[in-house]
Amino acid sequence: MTEQKPVTQSAATAVKALPDAQTVTQVQHWTDRLFSFRVTRPQTLRFRSGEFVMIGLMGDNGKPLLRAYSIASPSWDDELEFYSIKVQDGPLTSKLQHIQEGDQIILRPKPVGTLVHDALLPGKRIWFFATGTGIAPFASLIRDPETYENYDEVILTHTCRDVAELEYGRRLVESVKNDEMLRELIGDGLDKLRYYPTTTREESPKMGRITELLKDGTVFRDLGIEGMSPETDRAMVCGSLAFNHDLKDILEGFGLREGANSDPKEYVVEKAFVG
Ligand SMILES: Cc1cc2nc3c(=O)[nH]c(=O)nc-3n(C[C@H](O)[C@H](O)[C@H](O)COP(=O)(O)OP(=O)(O)OC[C@H]3O[C@@H](n4cnc5c(N)ncnc54)[C@H](O)[C@@H]3O)c2cc1C
Ligand SMILES: NC(=O)c1ccc[n+]([C@@H]2O[C@H](COP(=O)([O-])OP(=O)(O)OC[C@H]3O[C@@H](n4cnc5c(N)ncnc54)[C@H](OP(=O)(O)O)[C@@H]3O)[C@@H](O)[C@H]2O)c1
Repeated sequence: MTEQKPVTQSAATAVKALPDAQTVTQVQHWTDRLFSFRVTRPQTLRFRSGEFVMIGLMGDNGKPLLRAYSIASPSWDDELEFYSIKVQDGPLTSKLQHIQEGDQIILRPKPVGTLVHDALLPGKRIWFFATGTGIAPFASLIRDPETYENYDEVILTHTCRDVAELEYGRRLVESVKNDEMLRELIGDGLDKLRYYPTTTREESPKMGRITELLKDGTVFRDLGIEGMSPETDRAMVCGSLAFNHDLKDILEGFGLREGANSDPKEYVVEKAFVG
């Protein structure tokens, strides 16, 4: 008979030890301030592309330390993807930035949010306006077939300080255009999905805040579009409080009205972070 070994904590029991634990399957660092990661998906989790959940780690005090995170993967994906900031003195991300494949995070399986198709009335063209990590909900939505079924044209704008901060979005758009299933929906010309990246502090092909480029008509000239109208255009906005505020003014100026899950209209807004 073999000698009984002392019981060590296996990965499985460690998963059970954490409430709502999911296992990290992949981590990618994009800059010293940005990273993305994928985790296992709870079998029972259903969500609408664009929604967010609470995720986190166990705090030093033994209590879960949770923050809101947009799910960056589409609702059909087997796993969940997140795109995260690294705040060096941030209670959560000072630790979360060090996660590795095989580690566990806490994920509360209660998705909510306003950046969902249900919160908008039917239209012809949808604009996704993002700054920084605000691209996360749109990373989900531009991989969702429903987006292309609902609209003739999908425009993703992403404004960051530096070129390196655009890379996650650039690769994402490239992957969508190379995806067999989505290609069929986007069409052979691949121009149903239009990508409009801009930087504000580092030289790039298109410089400037998207708000300024909308106000002076540059965006419309560049894309060959006359402007926005409540009859045809729908918009989703995700960035800092100041960005959301400024963009709301612009959209209202075009006659678009803010909608909600319970009251769909022409545009919806969500904060990419608080503060
Ligand atoms: C609805 C919603 C969805 C969110 N989705 C995401 C997401 O998908 N990815 C993500 O990285 N964060 C997201 N956040 C922000 C997230 O909840 C945390 O604030 C972030 O993870 C930092 O946590 P922390 O504990 O390290 O620092 P916190 O104490 O939460 O934040 C410290 C400071 O860091 C800055 N900050 C926080 N988050 C960001 C950010 N994302 N970009 C730039 N500056 C920031 C702010 O100035 C904030 O006051 C979301 C927030 C909300 C309200
Ligand atoms: N990104 C970095 O390298 C960096 C480094 C250290 C600390 N931080 C801190 O981290 C926090 C978040 O930084 P972040 O870069 O992720 O987000 P951010 O400050 O919201 O900026 C992201 C992008 O949105 C633009 N923007 C900001 N407000 C806008 C508005 N009202 N209208 C239109 N565009 C607007 C910015 O342009 P502008 O450049 O014109 O503002 C920038 O291109 C800030 O408190 C910042 O001080 C950032």
